[in-house]
Amino acid sequence: MHSLTLSSPAKLNLVLNVLGKRPDGFHELRTIFERISLADQITLTRTSEDKITIRCAHPLVPRGPKNLVYKAAMMIKKDFSIFEGLDINIIKNIPVAAGLAGGSSNAAAVLMGLNQLWGLALSPSRLVAYAGRLGSDVAFFLYDASFALGTGRGEIIKPLEIQTKLWHVLVTPRVKMLTKDVFGRLKLNLTNKRDDVNILLPFLRKGNLGRLAGALSNDLEPAILSLRPDFIHLKDKLLDAGAMGVCFSGSGPSVFACVQSQKHALSLRAKLDRRYTQSFVVSTL
Ligand code: C5P
Repeated sequence: MHSLTLSSPAKLNLVLNVLGKRPDGFHELRTIFERISLADQITLTRTSEDKITIRCAHPLVPRGPKNLVYKAAMMIKKDFSIFEGLDINIIKNIPVAAGLAGGSSNAAAVLMGLNQLWGLALSPSRLVAYAGRLGSDVAFFLYDASFALGTGRGEIIKPLEIQTKLWHVLVTPRVKMLTKDVFGRLKLNLTNKRDDVNILLPFLRKGNLGRLAGALSNDLEPAILSLRPDFIHLKDKLLDAGAMGVCFSGSGPSVFACVQSQKHALSLRAKLDRRYTQSFVVSTL
């Protein structure tokens, strides 16, 4: 095989509970991931010259060693003593540094793609171990699951057997919000001690949209709003426009609304202010 193209989807966090700070500096999480239909496209091509090149038209995507896809490919290349080159072409549709884990998803796609392209026969558990070394959000994308429970740093994944399909309007303000800055602003004594995962899960399983929308929660919200207090207006605007529930995804700044249907999503998006140029109608994938 010479070349391989993969779809690399984004995620939302329907619940994100921060349980505490760990000795390694990371935070212990309990989160429900949802895989959504907004996706990048990654094409991997074997080349003869022994180097990794990244091509991407998006100005915020690094083309060198800072990119997680570069790190993923380099790790595999070294461990398996592969002396051929790789071209990685990224068509970027997922907003960058936005709480949607686009870069992590790209890295997971590269791990799975290289496993095929270079015939490595890596087991799922070895792929998960590589994912954990790259970042907290990478592992989720290795699982073929619409919904999953994430624990640990977020890298311990339990796929959930849930058939519900959700519709959302997703809005990403055009500001870069770094995950480490948001976690750095978190005041742990202010986070709630409720088990938000187990509150939301039965509503998700039953497809009870009204109750699900009321159970969305993200412990990082106060930290996100401490960096950008004005983002509370975006949540309010989505609710005023008819959203059933609204929540930040991950460390923000993306905000998503739960709505009844694709039709409802399209009409809600049409009502939004023109300044929200990065808005999407998405569904569970
Ligand atoms: O794992 P990842 O590289 O995505 O994490 C980026 C940063 O976010 C970490 O360096 C850390 O500051 C913060 N983080 C955290 N706890 C987590 C995940 C991320 O504190 N569970």
